Amino acid sequence: MALLEISDLHTYYGQIHALKGITLTVGEGEIVTLVGANGAGKSTTLRTVSGIARPRTGSIRFAGRDITGMKPHDIAALGISHVPEGRRIFPLLTVQENIEIGAWNVADRKQIGKRMQEMFALFPRLRERVQQKGGTLSGGEQQMLAIARALMCDPKVLLLDEPSMGLAPVLVEGIFDIITRINQEQKTTILLVEQNALMALEVASRGYVLQSGKIVLADTAHALMHNEEVRRVYLGEN
Ligand SMILES: Nc1ncnc2c1ncn2[C@@H]1O[C@H](COP(=O)(O)OP(=O)(O)O)[C@@H](O)[C@H]1O
Ligand SMILES: [Mg+2]
Repeated sequence: MALLEISDLHTYYGQIHALKGITLTVGEGEIVTLVGANGAGKSTTLRTVSGIARPRTGSIRFAGRDITGMKPHDIAALGISHVPEGRRIFPLLTVQENIEIGAWNVADRKQIGKRMQEMFALFPRLRERVQQKGGTLSGGEQQMLAIARALMCDPKVLLLDEPSMGLAPVLVEGIFDIITRINQEQKTTILLVEQNALMALEVASRGYVLQSGKIVLADTAHALMHNEEVRRVYLGEN
């Protein structure tokens, strides 16, 4: 049984049929990536899993339990943490305050302190900036902060939406290293959405290619990386 099982999901924004029957699985311990052009439905898939968007039909099962239609905070409390597109950190709160918000459902102060130290070990740049306001961080640092905040509740699944977006090339590599470390060191299962398909396929074990709300290809990351059509359309080769 997969940790996350999405079956024939249809999600609408008013009249817009954004997801037209998405079926996919994410196994425990995997990094699975969704790649595809702008508007393909990648973010909507993550938003539907985390409960921000409601599917009209279809189902989402997490650890064998049907979570379809549950409220976002109930889904988060079960262990699914979402880092949305565009990061959404709190610009006027300090780095420490931003991170603490991620532990909203952890009552034990000692546990929160311990977890925060683990986040600072993963992101030393954040430790150096604990009292700095979130809005004054660079783009890459804000992305680290958003990921650290999402990890504070020790989620079983991390939903990552475009973590490399807007970052300088030198920082992009760093973010993908961190994704691999979170998966290996924290034992966190990851569903990764990226327009940077090549980098995503390098860290993932499997991938799905989305086009206009449908999955058009599903394979191992290795096979997708060597698929001629994927290379031409999504990796920008001729
Ligand atoms: N808030 C929204 N209101 C209306 N349409 C939306 C909204 N968000 C996304 N869409 C539409 O849903 C489709 C899928 O978008 P999205 O999931 O954001 O794609 P991706 O993340 O792959 O770029 C697109 O046609 C987009 O225009
Ligand atoms: Mg998106």
